[in-house]
Amino acid sequence: MEYQINKICCIGAGYVGGPTMAVISDQCPEIEVNVVDLNVSRVAAWNSNDLSSLPVFEPGLADIISRRRGVNLFFSCDVEKNIALADMIFISVNTPIKTSGIGAGMASDLKWVESSTRQILKHAKGKTIVVEKSTLPVKTAKTIKSILESNIDNLTNSFSILSNPEFLAEGTAINDLTNPDRVLIGGEDNYAINALINIYKNWVPNEKIITTNLWSSELSKLSANAFLAQRISSINSISAICETTGSNINDVSKAIGMDRRIGSEFLKAGPGFGGSCFKKDILNLVYLCQYYGLNEVAKYWQSVVNINSWQKERISKIIVKNLFGTISGKKIGIFGFSFKANTNDTRESPAIEICKALLEEGAILQIYDPKVSHDSIKRELPANDELERPQNDKCGHWIYSTTSLESAKESDAIIILTDWDEFRNYNWKKIYEVMRSPSWIFDTRNIIKNPNHIKSLGFNLWQLGIN
Ligand code: NAD
Ligand code: UGA
Repeated sequence: MEYQINKICCIGAGYVGGPTMAVISDQCPEIEVNVVDLNVSRVAAWNSNDLSSLPVFEPGLADIISRRRGVNLFFSCDVEKNIALADMIFISVNTPIKTSGIGAGMASDLKWVESSTRQILKHAKGKTIVVEKSTLPVKTAKTIKSILESNIDNLTNSFSILSNPEFLAEGTAINDLTNPDRVLIGGEDNYAINALINIYKNWVPNEKIITTNLWSSELSKLSANAFLAQRISSINSISAICETTGSNINDVSKAIGMDRRIGSEFLKAGPGFGGSCFKKDILNLVYLCQYYGLNEVAKYWQSVVNINSWQKERISKIIVKNLFGTISGKKIGIFGFSFKANTNDTRESPAIEICKALLEEGAILQIYDPKVSHDSIKRELPANDELERPQNDKCGHWIYSTTSLESAKESDAIIILTDWDEFRNYNWKKIYEVMRSPSWIFDTRNIIKNPNHIKSLGFNLWQLGIN
């Protein structure tokens, strides 16, 4: 016997819940998909007629929303009703690092997972498949199971728990979801596993759908992120050696990546990895290792995070050093604030720590990003009135710029922090004309492919892993 999934409920309408459910609704028109969230303004934004104001910017997402919303895809705050109606519930809530208590700064804060699970226990009806979509510490399924099995008096309801981690990357979410490298399903109950396989089978080839036990699935997700981040820290560590030895990081990356055993992906040196997950997932892995007494393993993965912090610090120092050792009162144009191109997400963006370090030194930052709003930057940087004032010879503050030219105006330097395509096609002559001399470009993403042209315009140019 196979479960017929008619109604899905997804708890959490965030970067994962929104796009993932949009794609499921698009690929499975016969299934009704309800995405629920407690955040009223986020739900309102998902329901907005203005598709440019959806809470998540992802290429291709708005098209799917316009096709499916109101047909078989719905966003609402009605958590109770949609849990009660669902045959399958995805838990897609946030799992940030704990900020206090045991494991603070390292362990995942599972309070949102626990509260969603309790909501499921209270409102679900009949047989319900609960799918972990959030990234979770190994053995979380056990916690979810204990909560869901705690109501021993209710004999009409039953639950099966699956782990189905999400591997999408922001900026390419729709493509990653429609053409995944693999779909991973961990579980013990074959009926439930098959029900989920049947959903993915609508568009994912059989050989790409793999099944494991719950713990392997949970651990595979943490390990995949740790491996990807480790490659970035490795190449960033080599970028520092390039700068001191006259090697070129782009050439080194290419030479390494052409070895089929290594591969060319994730070898792009930069200002450090950002995003809401890499750091938290590695720290979570470190915490897990420490918990199980695997201290050498914990130290190994911790070093990936340490190199990432060091990369941001060393870039900030290089900028100050080149601008004659002081940036107090100097205007600096920041090009790019999101953690990578094609997303409006700023969580853990390397731009945050680099901007904070420059503000500490008293710089006046004029920040421009093609997709990041003023409000998002406000959430990440200290308010201007909290920054130290002139008595300490410091006057750091930041300004939001709506164009790159505004950001460059009267500045001594441009710092490229995100690899947005539009930066590659700029008329740098025009930018040079509005800046103060000597004018610098610090290209932390190596997007400038013709350094001689830039230098011929009068700029001083620093590129990561090259000079
Ligand atoms: P997010 O913060 O964008 O969204 C989570 C949403 O869950 C929020 O809108 C929040 O209001 C809602 N929520 C929390 N508790 C709730 C409750 N009890 N009832 C209803 N709604 C509730 O987070 P995200 O980026 O979508 O990440 C979700 C999970 O997916 C995390 O575990 C993350 O590690 C993982 N993940 C994220 C990405 C990514 O690219 N962002 C990729 C793969 C996996
Ligand atoms: C990452 C993983 O790629 C996804 O598979 C995973 O699902 C997701 O985390 C998650 O669990 O949240 P994401 O953070 O969206 O996705 O973006 P990435 O493309 O992995 O980039 C992460 C950071 O590394 C960015 O700051 C990016 O600029 C940086 N990066 C990436 C480099 O500096 N060099 C590279 O070669 C690649």
